[in-house]
Amino acid sequence: MTVRENVSTKIAISDVILDESIYPRENIDHKRVSIFAENIRDGFEFDPIEVQVHPEKPSQYRILDGANRWTAHKEVGLTRIQVIVKELKEIDPLLYSAKMAIGPKPLTEKETRTTARRVFQNNPRLTASEIGRLIGRSRQTIANYIADLKAVRQIKLDQKIWRMNRLGIPQERIAMRLGETRDIIRNHLGKMSMLTKSPNTDLSQGLTIPQVAAKHGWTEPMLWSLVLEGKSDQNRFKALGWGLRTWDLWNFNDCDPRFGDDWPGRIPAQMIAHILFYFSNPNDLIFDPMAGGGVTADTCLALGRRCWSLDMEDRAELRPEIEPCFWDTKRKNWEDTILAGREKPDLIIFDPPYFQKKADSYGENSIARMSRREYLNFLDSFFRFLKNSTRKTTRLALINSDWRDFQSCPALKEETQNAILLTDYYKILEGAGWELTHIIQAPLSSERFNAIMVSAMQEKKILGVTSRYILLLEQKAVK
Ligand SMILES: C[S@@+](CC[C@H](N)C(=O)[O-])C[C@H]1O[C@@H](n2cnc3c(N)ncnc32)[C@H](O)[C@@H]1O
Repeated sequence: MTVRENVSTKIAISDVILDESIYPRENIDHKRVSIFAENIRDGFEFDPIEVQVHPEKPSQYRILDGANRWTAHKEVGLTRIQVIVKELKEIDPLLYSAKMAIGPKPLTEKETRTTARRVFQNNPRLTASEIGRLIGRSRQTIANYIADLKAVRQIKLDQKIWRMNRLGIPQERIAMRLGETRDIIRNHLGKMSMLTKSPNTDLSQGLTIPQVAAKHGWTEPMLWSLVLEGKSDQNRFKALGWGLRTWDLWNFNDCDPRFGDDWPGRIPAQMIAHILFYFSNPNDLIFDPMAGGGVTADTCLALGRRCWSLDMEDRAELRPEIEPCFWDTKRKNWEDTILAGREKPDLIIFDPPYFQKKADSYGENSIARMSRREYLNFLDSFFRFLKNSTRKTTRLALINSDWRDFQSCPALKEETQNAILLTDYYKILEGAGWELTHIIQAPLSSERFNAIMVSAMQEKKILGVTSRYILLLEQKAVK
């Protein structure tokens, strides 16, 4: 156990709180509190209580040991209390509190059970014997207390491994992302047929995909990946209810809610599916460097493509397949990313935040907050990096819109030197060694301008933007 102990010091009692989430007992022991209060009035000095700096409110301290003494101090009307501020390195604070609590008075059976379960939920990697040792119970007792939680965790882990493996993420990266050893990942992968058995049975008995997803805790895209296995792209489109456009204007009214999360700047899965249909083959490796809500990965599952995804937002529990990566504009060589390995993507789907648009919805350091110059410089470096770290045959699909400062501004008065138009992107791409093969129009819905806005825009001759394009590029041959 690594505990760093600071010397005891007196602090304001109002800065100390009892945080239920790390308190192992059901209630404060009021009998003990009144005895302690009497002792304080008689001039008896208690040992300092133990606290830790509150992880979310750094001006406050939460109690690790001494809740009854702290309550007694308050009851007597004292305003300051002697504390020892502990620094618990890797130790779970609840486990530490429980260990301290059993000294003066053992935890009840119910308190032990609840503590063991809460500790396991906070840190599922702790073994039953580790927990048992600290709260004074046998390994077997703790194992019984947490058996159901352990089983649920195993299933959840299996599902994450299945999904990541299905998307073609190498085992060593799955292990690193999930904090497990490669042996554990291999072991789980060996038992995957068991995982798919019950969902498959339910599907074959006529349950719908949403019903099976809810029953077994699978995501819908995972189930689509299962049921559409071996089908052609065209049959997959049919099964998913997506009309297949055979021309270069792809307009979709809505984002298909089954694919991707609700995310700022979310794009329709149908659009990704069309890119995959025309510009990739089954089992190809797709790379999405700014994956956001995960619509590319989900659509790849449905269309039988592999997919590596990255984003600066880390959502390890919900989206383990989106690996955390911040494209730091100061570095620009990005040598240690997943593109450094031997395997290279067949197609990159790049949907960056548009210049300034929705800047407040993304993380503080997102490229959406940059100045026009910085934004274009970033893209220039990024397109060069993508070219240099992929294969000659890797294609790029860039999704973007014209950006014009049209808000409250008549078309004739727009500051055109501040705009970023399709041609600006193209100039950078060309300079970075990418050659345009297709321009596809995939407009945003015009419903974003409501009737009142439209009439104000007409009045002032404001020309809004609903254009959105997909630029398809291949790498220029070196002459
Ligand atoms: C337009 S969103 C992608 C939306 C996604 N295609 C979807 O449909 O859900 C762009 C993403 O880029 C990410 N991003 C912005 N700047 C980044 C950076 N410097 N490094 C990594 N990710 C970044 C944001 O977190 C955001 O999720």
